[in-house]
Amino acid sequence: MYYPQELIDQIQSNNDIVDVINEYIPLTKKGANYVCLCPFHPDSNPSLTVSRQKQLFKCFACGEGGNVFTFLQKYDGKDFKEAVETLAARAGIKLPESYASDFSKEKYNYRQRLIECNTEAARYFYALLRSEGGKNGMAYFRKRELTDETMKKFGLGYANVDGKDCINYLKSQGFTDKEIIDAGIGIYDEKRGMRAKFWNRVMFPIKNQAGKVIAFGGRVMGDGEPKYLNSQETQIFNKSTNLYAFDLAKASRSTYFILCEGYMDVIALHQAGFNMAVASLGTAFTPQQALLIKRYVKDVYLSYDSDGPGVQAAIRAAKICRDNGLSCKVINMQPHKDPDEFIKNLGKEEYLKRIEEAKNAFIFEIDVIRRKYDLSDPDENTRYDEEVAALLAEMKDEVTRTNYIKACAKDMEISTEALTAMVSKEAKKLSRFNSFTPERKTVHEEKDESREKPQRLMLTYLAEYPSIYPTIEKYITPDDFPDDPYREVAEKFFEDLRNGTASPARMVNLFEDETIQNKVSDMFTCFLKGLESKEERSAAIVDIMYRLKSNAFESLKNDEGGIDPAVFMTKKKELMDIKKLKIILPE
Ligand code: UTP
Ligand code: MN
Repeated sequence: MYYPQELIDQIQSNNDIVDVINEYIPLTKKGANYVCLCPFHPDSNPSLTVSRQKQLFKCFACGEGGNVFTFLQKYDGKDFKEAVETLAARAGIKLPESYASDFSKEKYNYRQRLIECNTEAARYFYALLRSEGGKNGMAYFRKRELTDETMKKFGLGYANVDGKDCINYLKSQGFTDKEIIDAGIGIYDEKRGMRAKFWNRVMFPIKNQAGKVIAFGGRVMGDGEPKYLNSQETQIFNKSTNLYAFDLAKASRSTYFILCEGYMDVIALHQAGFNMAVASLGTAFTPQQALLIKRYVKDVYLSYDSDGPGVQAAIRAAKICRDNGLSCKVINMQPHKDPDEFIKNLGKEEYLKRIEEAKNAFIFEIDVIRRKYDLSDPDENTRYDEEVAALLAEMKDEVTRTNYIKACAKDMEISTEALTAMVSKEAKKLSRFNSFTPERKTVHEEKDESREKPQRLMLTYLAEYPSIYPTIEKYITPDDFPDDPYREVAEKFFEDLRNGTASPARMVNLFEDETIQNKVSDMFTCFLKGLESKEERSAAIVDIMYRLKSNAFESLKNDEGGIDPAVFMTKKKELMDIKKLKIILPE
């Protein structure tokens, strides 16, 4: 923990989670809580619930949860310290200077330094491209029909044959060898020492969402291998969470994005006026990238290569879009290979027409499947129908599935009823499969669940009704929470309850590991079944206490050497007492 716990507490209590989340996603009041569409999974029904009392959020569909700091970490990709600093600033709390020099501040500053190093390198490559020494690079870009304006917009540059020049320039600007290496510009090995990663390539700066240079792609000016060399992942460059030209596409204010495969495709599209084109960074499209896009637009047009691998990549990208709540269409690039060639040959008006004619990605996938079969053969026709039905059966949302069934039936020239029947047959296979697998693997898991669940429920009830603690503590102690991290949380939370300072949101901060933070937040946000009357709830609490105690009792009994008869009697009596207990819940 970088800041003292008291300071974290103070920042937390000055940033009401309801107000903070509401600044990102509008919340609506529902009962005692607030709800909104969950930003962490495709959500059509508000399933993210925010509790003012507990200062926690929880999505009952995808399971994400946490406190106000974790929300910023998950939503904005901040680390814990950045989240603390953001919220301190929001509440007007000044962070003590003495912490400015600690490790994490250093880490933050170091990342800024690496960004500066990349920015300085980009300036160097940019200037070189426009000088005598960069004429090969310039000739290459001219051949690819890029205008000066485009080259400027994308900050294109050139790394000359002697890569040392760039390294020396960066050193003259005060960057150390380590910084240059950590920034991804220099590489070091024992045999050859320090050298430049990029040489004799035209250079494409890669920027983050904020428009800061975080990496490069470099292309050979001919037929060398590899065609594109990309910066390796560094402290500032994550290939799966960034997109090429995302900063520009975001600024275009378009209602859709065009997703392509290559840097040159993006650039050609922008030059033709399609400012909303982006590309992944030399790797396959990821769910994180889909969620990033979804914060700005809901529609994606795929403009992938028209060759075999391009088509397969498009199908995979489309599935990722669909699974993450983006609606997705595929632009037909035939007879050309990619958008760059298409625009060069057929021009932007024709491309615009292709956007308008773009096919729903699922129908596109089905077209691809159809080509595998000879539909004049009845058996092959059946297998084709089954393959499509199986894909439809995977669609979880009923409305979407029904609509797709209708569209596909038409496309397949069979009746909607016939296809619906096939889909439910496939769905049964699927659910049989789904219900078999967990059953087989979870005998053990279920046992854990029956042990962990009462631990969770107990903590949730205590968070919901802190006033029952004095009654509970006579029977339940942290020892009744046998599993990690429940025990540690119970110890701290019980202590806070005794002192009247209990805050579930605070418990989350006890741990730095994100998985554990999630688990801790889960402990306080169990779904409490629709027990409407207070009597029912109070009976439920007694039941949970009983299960908690008897689980602990069971584990005692299982200890080798049996159990001391005196202890056995006390425990037995405790259990009996709990059964008779009456819990009084507040109004
Ligand atoms: P392409 O070869 O389709 O890119 O690879 P492109 O932009 O159309 O290339 P040219 O310049 O017109 O010939 C698509 C993307 O895959 C990554 C790059 O991100 C590229 O933009 N890639 C490709 C690599 O990372 N390394 C390679 O060797 C090739
Ligand atoms: Mn190309």
